[in-house]
Amino acid sequence: MEEERPDLWLAVDPLPSNPAQFVKQWLGEAFAGGIQANPHAVALATVDADGRPSVRMVLCNEIEPEAAEFTMYTNTQSRKGRAIRAEPRCAIVFHWPSRQARIEGRASLTPDEKCDAYFATRPLEARLGAWASAQSEPIGSRTEMLAKLADVSERFGATKEEDPVPRPPHWGGFTLVANSIELWVSREGRIHDRAVWQRSEDTWVPTRLQP
Ligand SMILES: Cc1cc2nc3c(=O)[nH]c(=O)nc-3n(C[C@H](O)[C@H](O)[C@H](O)COP(=O)(O)O)c2cc1C
Repeated sequence: MEEERPDLWLAVDPLPSNPAQFVKQWLGEAFAGGIQANPHAVALATVDADGRPSVRMVLCNEIEPEAAEFTMYTNTQSRKGRAIRAEPRCAIVFHWPSRQARIEGRASLTPDEKCDAYFATRPLEARLGAWASAQSEPIGSRTEMLAKLADVSERFGATKEEDPVPRPPHWGGFTLVANSIELWVSREGRIHDRAVWQRSEDTWVPTRLQP
């Protein structure tokens, strides 16, 4: 039954042992369902060096379920990048039809090889844009921004998708290593299924929560 009805996994005690596996599976199902743009979009919450919180959407491009690692790519000098480097504790939340996954932990810079491999898969304009945009910094006009993009394209002689563009030193990933994962499944009468798993050395300790 478990294989066929993953929705019911949270309804059954004892709770399963690896929550990150669920997140990966639910993401796959959201992609397969095809009704949601960017099912891998997450709200990423950070706190800066002064304790000021902020949240924004990013894409969670990789999930490593065994290690419970979640990787997002961005400009590492952006507001979020500066915040994470000052305070690595951060949180993400996924939302899919009838489901939510909340993940908390510590993020650190993703190894260069992974960043290089992912950067190379991005469309040309995204690769050029990574150079052109000092993300989170002010700019006078859109025209000015597009001129920066054109300059970068000329500098690298890159006008076609197949043209190589190196990864900028300020562009990379943050990998969030989860120490807490909470899963939520919508159920009838708003008596939803909800459980949180806390990492304890190399195991996860589940606790069912009231909805
Ligand atoms: C659905 C969606 C996905 C996004 N994905 C990313 C992303 O993967 N990386 C990124 O840097 N910004 C992404 N953005 C833009 C961010 O929300 C944000 O505007 C930008 O990263 C600057 O945030 P910051 O100033 O807090 O660093 C995305 C926005 C949306 C709406």
